[in-house]
Amino acid sequence: MNAIESLKDDHRLIEQGLLALERMCTALEAGQAINSNSLEKWIEFIQIFADRYHHLNEERILFERLSERGMPRLGGALEVLESEHEESRMLIRAIADTVPWVHRRDPAALERFLLQSRNYVQLLRSHIQTEEDDVFPQTDSYLTAADHAEISNAFDQAVDNGIVAFRKEWENTLHGIVFKLNH
Ligand SMILES: [Fe+2]
Ligand SMILES: [Fe+2]
Repeated sequence: MNAIESLKDDHRLIEQGLLALERMCTALEAGQAINSNSLEKWIEFIQIFADRYHHLNEERILFERLSERGMPRLGGALEVLESEHEESRMLIRAIADTVPWVHRRDPAALERFLLQSRNYVQLLRSHIQTEEDDVFPQTDSYLTAADHAEISNAFDQAVDNGIVAFRKEWENTLHGIVFKLNH
């Protein structure tokens, strides 16, 4: 799998995470109980997989190489994507702050949780679309075959640091969240 395909593969798992969050929001809004650790598990998934693994791979490896090869980092698509990564991290921190109060059924905290969660889902879906429709298709005009190979190797090193084992576990956890809420 080349580097761009592996980022798209990450996006599919992140989208499962967004779906799980949406399902939890719908259930909470309808006054239904959700599994007590589902929200904590979801936050763990998004902070480790989306923020620390996927977004950092993009920023430190792909975007870095693209800017070395002449794609503007400031004033262009890369700057927008990086600022969206930062915005998404701030939203996750805000969502995480509300979780203990959501469990205590605090109405104001639930309202904040729902608003921030829906903003997060919207931000990430549009971010993924920009990457896949606008930025990834341009990478071939900046990167050489050797660049692609080096980027893949750098991603593989991050994979070796344990993300593969976590990935399978998270797929099951996210599936569990969605499945349990559907039945
Ligand atoms: Fe991104
Ligand atoms: Fe991405």
